[in-house]
Amino acid sequence: MATLIRNIGLLAGISSETRKEGPAMSEVGCLRDAWLLIEDGRIADFGTERPSGAERVIDARGAMLLPAFCDSHTHIVYAGSREQEFEDKIRGLSYAEIAARGGGILNSADRLHECSEDELFAQSMLRVREMMAKGTGAIEIKSGYGLNTEDELKMLRVIRRIKEAVPAVIKATFLGAHAVPRGMDKETYVKQVCEEMIPAVAAEGLADFVDVFCEEGFFSTDDTGRILSAGQKYGLRPKLHANQLHVSGGVQVGVRHGALSVDHLERTGEAEEACLRGTATMPTMLPGASFFLREPYGRAKEYIEHGLGVALASDYNPGSSPSGDMRFVMALGCICMRLTPEQAFNAVTLNSAYAMGVSDIAGSIAKGKLANLILTKPESGTSIGTLAYLHQTPFIEKVFLKGEEI
Ligand code: NIG
Ligand code: FE
Repeated sequence: MATLIRNIGLLAGISSETRKEGPAMSEVGCLRDAWLLIEDGRIADFGTERPSGAERVIDARGAMLLPAFCDSHTHIVYAGSREQEFEDKIRGLSYAEIAARGGGILNSADRLHECSEDELFAQSMLRVREMMAKGTGAIEIKSGYGLNTEDELKMLRVIRRIKEAVPAVIKATFLGAHAVPRGMDKETYVKQVCEEMIPAVAAEGLADFVDVFCEEGFFSTDDTGRILSAGQKYGLRPKLHANQLHVSGGVQVGVRHGALSVDHLERTGEAEEACLRGTATMPTMLPGASFFLREPYGRAKEYIEHGLGVALASDYNPGSSPSGDMRFVMALGCICMRLTPEQAFNAVTLNSAYAMGVSDIAGSIAKGKLANLILTKPESGTSIGTLAYLHQTPFIEKVFLKGEEI
């Protein structure tokens, strides 16, 4: 069935690029007083002149129509909560101190181990539904709370079930190297990740990407290189946790392995920036984690001023960023990273789509892309800036994923 959305005050995010860098990050393609036609779940056409007919017509009442957000970095398949650690953090413990005491990721691994696959699916679906209702149309989800072959596969099977159950675009990342499990030495675990887990994950076709928490106290650049190479042999493209707590060399190892993205980047300098220049790797920053852990926000503004592109993602997880609200991410991008609303908007749509390998089908308004769209409330006005400025005021009238209202 064809659906026509007419009387759109501002159709924003029109672009046929696959990513934006430097000055292009300040440009948001827009049409005023526009219409958009959806056919077979895709954007069939859009314009300002007389629209073609359709079986179903929706009056946008002068509001904005935007591409749905893309969230290229999440850990939303987890069991239970880490609220107790939240209070430990308030009392003054750092993320690294909580991890060193056996909390953190290991705490989530214990809970996940106890949880059945069905229960894990049910808990995770609540988060997916919440994210879709808040306008996110593409979600990358990582494993990494299993830390043994069986539990890592359990997580990845849950991600596959989510993919089959929802209209959002879902990509899966194998993050076995998220922490070294209790009672095992690191070298034994790295071998297990490379020689047992990656082949098992690949045999079931459960992952698109391979990731490593490259960080002091977790996995070194040498470990990271070995794991990324092992994943690449099975067709898994690297995406990396890099430079979160230390200047770790993570960016360099990621770029060397042709990573699609290097993520976090709370701590980078000119060497990392130079290393990223001219590559296919998308620097991705996670301001929700910086906010929650009171860490630096990274150098997104400088990167953009110096000609690079930047993506922003939520990092939704129980320990460092318990929120998948991409409009909040956009607001943090503006308020805490000093991005302009246009730069932040491109970072949470097209560039985040690129960082999860879906910018050919999502992340902008372009003919042939999936009709993953946010229709705003008329009272939200018609400016991109308002999205970040009034960041707590409900702004969504309807969300369409693959052309259907959710
Ligand atoms: O991206 N830093 C490593 N991994 C996650 C946190 C995971 C957790 O604490 O559960 C992150 O911040
Ligand atoms: Fe993460």
